Order: sequence, then C-alpha cells, then structure tokens
Amino acid sequence: MPASGPCRQDLAGAARRLLAFGLAGRDFRPCRRRPGRPECEQVTKASDKGPDLAERADYLIEVAARAPSVHNTQPWRFTVSGPAIELYADVSRQLMEDLTGREMIISCGAALFGLRLAVRSLGYQPTVELFPDPSQRRLLARVGAGRPEPMTADERAMLQAVPHRHTHRDAFEPGPLPGDLLQRLRDDAVAEGATLAVIGAGPEYQRLTAILASWSRWRDLYPTSPAEIQTRAEIFRWTHETGSQARDGVPAHAFPASAGRAAGRLPQRDFDLGRDWGFPPSGGPPPPVTAVLVAHGEDEESWLRAGQALQRMLLRAASQWVFAGLQTQPLQSTSVRSQIRSSLTPTGSPQLLLELGVVRSSHPTGRRPAGDLTTGEAR
Ligand SMILES: Cc1cc2nc3c(=O)[nH]c(=O)nc-3n(C[C@H](O)[C@H](O)[C@H](O)COP(=O)(O)O)c2cc1C
Repeated sequence: MPASGPCRQDLAGAARRLLAFGLAGRDFRPCRRRPGRPECEQVTKASDKGPDLAERADYLIEVAARAPSVHNTQPWRFTVSGPAIELYADVSRQLMEDLTGREMIISCGAALFGLRLAVRSLGYQPTVELFPDPSQRRLLARVGAGRPEPMTADERAMLQAVPHRHTHRDAFEPGPLPGDLLQRLRDDAVAEGATLAVIGAGPEYQRLTAILASWSRWRDLYPTSPAEIQTRAEIFRWTHETGSQARDGVPAHAFPASAGRAAGRLPQRDFDLGRDWGFPPSGGPPPPVTAVLVAHGEDEESWLRAGQALQRMLLRAASQWVFAGLQTQPLQSTSVRSQIRSSLTPTGSPQLLLELGVVRSSHPTGRRPAGDLTTGEAR
C-alpha cells in the first residue's frame, strides 16, 4: 500500500507505534494463562467462583480506556472493589463547549463497552448496572462478572481490534465496505439501544450537507463570538505538536494540516487552526458510507447507550480494517440536531456523524495508564 502522507503507515509501522504507546506489553488476548490455572475461557459453572476483577483491573481498564473520546479528553475514571468496577464521568475533563455533558457521556459509554468486552475476555458475561446510585450523579455504571460463558469469535475479533482502532481523518481506500459489515453495524447499534441511520448517496446526502453548510456559514459570520473563541481555546488546550509525550489530547499525526472541505467529505473539525502541525491531506475517493448515530432520547442514559453502540460498531469495523471519521461539532447546535432529526433521522436524536471506509493502516493516539485512572479499594 503506497504511503501518501504521514498519517498513512504500513502495518509494521503501526505495530511499532503500538509498541511506542506501551500497548504491545499489554496482552489483549482473551486470557493470560497462569501456571496452575485453567485457561479462563474454560471455566465451568460447577467449579467457578467468578473472577477477581480487582486482580485484573489494569487489563480491564486499559482495554476500556482505548475508547474514543471527544478531543481524546478521556473523561472517565474507575474505582475497583473486588467484585465490581465502577465507571465515573470525570467532569474535570468535560469540555466547556459540551454544556450538557452529552459528548462526555457518549465517550464514557464507549469506554463502558470496552470494559464489558474485557470482562467477556475473561470468560464471563458482564453484569452491568447503569446509574446504580441516584445520589452519585457521576457514577455511570457498575460492572461485574456474571455467569461464565466463553467468548465468541466475533467478540475475540473485536478485542483484537482494540489496539489499532482509531479515528481516521485522511483518505479512505476506494470501494465499498466488505461483505455484510454495514448491516452488522446497524444490528450492533440496535443491540445497544441506538440506531445507525445510513445517509443515502443522493438527496439525503445533499440535505445533510446543506444543513451543515448553513451552519458553517453562520459560524463564519461570527468568528469572534464567545462560543467560537471558546472552541478555539479548547482545541489549543487539547492538541499536541508532533513529538509531544502527552497521553491525552489529539496529536498532530492524527489530523490534517488544513481542515478545508475535501470533495465528498463532510466538513471536519479544524484541529490545526493554521499552525501547520498536521499532515498534508492526501485526497482520495469519498468514504463509501456516511451515517448518523441516533440515540433514542436526549438524556444521560440514551447518551451512555449511544456511546456503547459507537464503540461496538467501531471495533467490529476495525476488526475488518474499516475505520471511521467522527464529527460532533455541528451537532452541538440544537438547531442542526433538530433539522437532521426532522429531515433524516425521525426515529431519534442524532448524536454523531460517521464517515466509514477501508484503511489498511493504523495510527493510534495516546492514553493515560490504568493507574492514573483508578481510585478505590484495590489501589
Ligand atoms: C463523543 C465524541 C465526539 C467526537 N467528536 C469528534 C469531532 O467532532 N471531530 C473529530 O475529528 N473527531 C471527533 N471524535 C474523535 C476523537 O477526537 C477521538 O476519539 C480521540 O481523539 C481519540 O482518538 P482515537 O479515536 O483515534 O483513539 C469524537 C469522539 C467522540 C467519542
């Protein structure tokens, strides 16, 4: 595969970067065999006392924390207490522009799916309580290990995709998504209590781009509005130049130098802001699929479910080397959300725009280590 820019790397390069991020030392295979212990997927109900999640907490949390999050803020923290791992929203990492915490909670939902998948990899069905304690608003979920059940081949493929899944902001390869992947992504969204609304190539796509174009024009009229200034300040805060050792935020290798509108692409968030930090965009054909992730409602539980749907779809796609570009900036406008809802997604509330296509390369971004994310009895 010819390299066409700094973001497009061969697979050996991707593996080297995984090493650089310390993921290669992490074993994301379902079970680590320990001397004298049966392989964890082979536990039987009769002999099983359930796994000690505290003992595996670093592994479980590192899988969860590979989730996508707005600006790579990683707005989550975990507590570990023997039988359960609790997921909290870390509001100190909530963006100012994310007034309701919607994008923070979608991000946490994505981490929750990773945590569930990691528990599956121990050979158990996870037990999940959403918002288990109404007196603690930031406690989003409590996850334990339920009945033993071996991981499926599908789940194993998703787990193996965790290290190389990434948000893709460069060109896609020509051609459609493989096989029945798109239908499976739709099924994944439904299974998690959300919907993936695929935007048809003709009038539907034009309607979407018209809505986004009028939003862009409105923003261009008010470049010095307090909202625009805040948006730019948050991008400055959460982006890093090449060579930075930061383990959160969006590194320059992950965004294009100019966020101009590439033909056939939705407008992208401008992470570069004229600094010329990013990679030169390499053009290429438009993504074969544009879609909207739709939640059932506009409440925290719907957002948490949408986030789980997001990570489930992204991991299934990544298991076939299909990646997504994600856009939420226009959807911060209630007017844009209601226009999309009334003309394109009548079944629910649009949360996130996705552009999906095949990319045979990977360039993951950094994550904070499990120890920095964890508080509680086990630590
Ligand atoms: C709720 C949410 C909103 C996001 N919004 C955008 C966006 O507007 N533009 C964009 O390029 N990426 C967006 N992303 C992708 C994040 O920037 C990305 O997940 C993060 O930088 C980590 O990188 P990774 O996905 O490659 O691991 C969003 C992700 C989430 C979960």
